[in-house]
Amino acid sequence: MPQLLPLSRAARLVGISRGALQKRIQDNELQTFEGAVRVSDLLRVFPDVKLQDDSAVERARQIREQAIPKTEDDAALPAPEVLAHRLSSVSGELTSARHELAHYSTLVHALRAQLVKLDDGRLADTVAWLDTQLGALPNVPARKAELMAKDTFLRLIAAHVQFIPSGHDFLVEGNETILNAALRAGLLPHYGCTSGSCGSCKARVVSGQVLKVHDHSYEISRTEQNLGYILMCANTAVTELVLEVNEARKHNDIAVQKIRAEVRHAVPADDELYVLQVATPPDQRLRFFAGQSVRLQLADGSATTLPLASCPCDGQHLEFHVPRHDGDGFADALFQGHLGAGNGIDIEGPWGDFILPEDTHAPLVFLAHDEGFAPIKALIESAVASDQAESFLLIWSVSPGRRHYMDNRCRAWADALDNFRYQPVNDPAALQQNLNIALPDNAILFAAGPSEWLDALAGTVANTQFHQLTTD
Ligand code: FES
Repeated sequence: MPQLLPLSRAARLVGISRGALQKRIQDNELQTFEGAVRVSDLLRVFPDVKLQDDSAVERARQIREQAIPKTEDDAALPAPEVLAHRLSSVSGELTSARHELAHYSTLVHALRAQLVKLDDGRLADTVAWLDTQLGALPNVPARKAELMAKDTFLRLIAAHVQFIPSGHDFLVEGNETILNAALRAGLLPHYGCTSGSCGSCKARVVSGQVLKVHDHSYEISRTEQNLGYILMCANTAVTELVLEVNEARKHNDIAVQKIRAEVRHAVPADDELYVLQVATPPDQRLRFFAGQSVRLQLADGSATTLPLASCPCDGQHLEFHVPRHDGDGFADALFQGHLGAGNGIDIEGPWGDFILPEDTHAPLVFLAHDEGFAPIKALIESAVASDQAESFLLIWSVSPGRRHYMDNRCRAWADALDNFRYQPVNDPAALQQNLNIALPDNAILFAAGPSEWLDALAGTVANTQFHQLTTD
């Protein structure tokens, strides 16, 4: 049985977020060994944890599902074939553990026989002690046994995957592909079509076993097959997996893409703003970091640049919040009812470095003014998906006459996540006061709004990690 647990699995087992577990590690309550924690340490730090209680993880999962539409592959249980492979792998481990035990047992008894043979009177106590130890059955503490049983069950329904060289890790659940699971976890591996035709998601299996769950037209050469290359969009993980993967980790790791997309919905949120839902072709999804922007152009040439308001974990269904702007042909088309479901739209991008830092476990503070909420929403959805931040604080201010047009969404985050606080603000002065009181130590700040509002904020905020995006 493994005595070390990868962080993703350890967090799932004790029913807390990965960010909360990282916090315990930062506070030196827990030691890590190459991204894993010891079972005994986990039980020491969480002595009162209810091992059957998954409610916190379940609530976080609901939030993620709001950001990422479900597919048929996301069924809760893996296919019988995958389960059979995992069962066989666990049985294999049990068999080798039994062999090892038998080997050590034989060895100890042989050693005892040697001691008895050599005994000149001085070894009698040692032999007697050995007999006592051999007669006593090791007593596995009940909670440790319970944790290990739960871990074995978790390994049957979800496989742990680690990407190298980044060290990022996540769980593959149900029948989902490795690519989908990675996107759900807030990662950005290289990919294109998601349907096995472009070859962009090719990765090398360093250790572990995969199973093809979708056919693919892209042919992996014999040489590459021998080296262990697979397509992440066509395979699921059967066992613990280590994959060598090409991941985007900085904003300029993602190339500019041009995609012909289609408007799905255009709904007014208030008198001054439309929420625009756009879908790309299924085999041509947009790769982007949360917080980045794209250029949108209509057939008549009118164009605008807007931040994405949706999570990069779904590169097909994109959301934009379009404010009314006099003289802006794109916004005019929307507000005058000339742009709606079925209309084509050209997308070009992404651009911008208003993105989450890689692998941060710090408290995240999000400040939005009016439609500055759009990129903030994308950042929050992405941060929740990656499950790394210690805590979230969202303060959203609106101009006189405007409203918090996604107030319900923000309240749902606060209800679902223990470490999420939401403060809607109507008076910009109140926002400054909230900031003075509410900022956690070492927080990383993200603010999106008009330049004048940002300038006023900059005078108040002393944090060195203060990322800003202007919306005018
Ligand atoms: S993303 Fe195109 S082959 Fe996997």
